[in-house]
Amino acid sequence: MAEDIICFLNKDELVIKAPKKSPMVLRMVVLLFAMVCGVYICLICLRQQTSSSSKIRLLNVRVNDEEQHCRANGIEKWETPPVHFPKPKTFSREECVCNPVRFFAILSMQRSGSGWFETLLNSHMNVSSNGEIFSKERRRNVSTIINTLDKVYNLDFFTSASKNECTAAVGFKWMLNQGVMQHPKEIVEYFDERGVSAIFLFRRNLLRRMISVLANVYDSQAKLLNGTHKSHVHSSKDAQILAKYKPKVNASILVHNLKQAEKTTTRALEYFKSTRHIVLYYEDIVNNRTKLVDVQDFLRLPYRELTSRQVKIHSGPLSKQIDNWGGVQKALEGTSYEHFLHVDYQL
Ligand SMILES: *[C@@H]1O[C@H](CO)[C@@H](O)[C@H](O)[C@H]1NC(C)=O
Ligand SMILES: *[C@@H]1O[C@H](CO)[C@@H](O)[C@H](O)[C@H]1NC(C)=O
Ligand SMILES: *[C@@H]1O[C@H](CO)[C@@H](O)[C@H](O)[C@H]1NC(C)=O
Ligand SMILES: *[C@@H]1O[C@H](CO)[C@@H](O)[C@H](O)[C@H]1NC(C)=O
Ligand SMILES: *[C@@H]1O[C@H](CO)[C@@H](O)[C@H](O)[C@H]1NC(C)=O
Repeated sequence: MAEDIICFLNKDELVIKAPKKSPMVLRMVVLLFAMVCGVYICLICLRQQTSSSSKIRLLNVRVNDEEQHCRANGIEKWETPPVHFPKPKTFSREECVCNPVRFFAILSMQRSGSGWFETLLNSHMNVSSNGEIFSKERRRNVSTIINTLDKVYNLDFFTSASKNECTAAVGFKWMLNQGVMQHPKEIVEYFDERGVSAIFLFRRNLLRRMISVLANVYDSQAKLLNGTHKSHVHSSKDAQILAKYKPKVNASILVHNLKQAEKTTTRALEYFKSTRHIVLYYEDIVNNRTKLVDVQDFLRLPYRELTSRQVKIHSGPLSKQIDNWGGVQKALEGTSYEHFLHVDYQL
């Protein structure tokens, strides 16, 4: 810091240097020099004092300095979404120390395309989305949840998705039944206080989602791919093997189950209505990749083409994917879910 001041001073002198013109200017320069020297000496004294005080305080001062310094680069606190300059405990952000970071969470339900969506996001060089991190242990109570969130947003949570120093958006994916619906008040408070943006990702066709859930549960036992269970695949051959299994749907509770899933989404949107959020549907992204531009805009990211190697497991008409198609048809006819039987989409 001391060196900086001297350099700065030298430069200034060079600029002002024109003492021949009047002795008044020369006097002013000498006066200025004396003043700066005084300040410099004060600074040295101060610094010696601080270094003798506790290390923690010094660290705090530096964090504030950094934040102020970064903000001076034209980034304002009231920007939406709020920007952050995390100071990770585990590494240094190096040349990206002043790159602003945005916080997000993908809120979704199992088998709604969030795995695929997350691989798309993570193909962006400046995004770290850390997967489904809320194990039973981490969602045990509100304080374990908050601790985990703090760690993620301070960039100290390490997964294969971590991009570390040049991350511009950091988050993870959170299934609604993994603590979100149990502690909505505290989580919404945290999101609003720290400026976490929510990306809701739902599936329009909840019947297709149900087929995927049933097939995935079945495979967790049957392990169709050479004795291993896979929820997501990267080859069409593997996808075909997994799609061979046609689940039987319990028709007597089908409408009830669809209603439950629908209620959960509605309640979640109600809880987070004050939070900055975007609502996406899996089918829309599949049909219209421009939706991914919306997402990047939402996170204020520089635009990139996003890619994923994941292959869809259940493609083609729904009637071919359900063992008791007739029973399912009968159960849904005349209900508000009837259209789930008919809407199909191309891939
Ligand atoms: C939350 O769970 C952790 C870990 O199991 C435990 O140590 C802590 O005391 C619990 N806190 C509260 C407030 O229940
Ligand atoms: C994205 O990452 C690159 C390379 O790591 C870095 O140079 C760039 O500044 C980052 N962009 C943002 C917006 O942080
Ligand atoms: C399963 O085994 C077959 C034949 O040995 C092989 O071709 C295939 O790649 C394997 N699949 C997986 C998912 O490991
Ligand atoms: C369908 O669900 C109901 C209610 O849970 C249950 O009583 C019934 O045994 C189930 N039927 C089948 C065929 O699994
Ligand atoms: C695709 O998505 C973009 C961005 O949300 C939207 O403006 C556009 O109308 C959509 N196109 C179609 C064909 O739906």
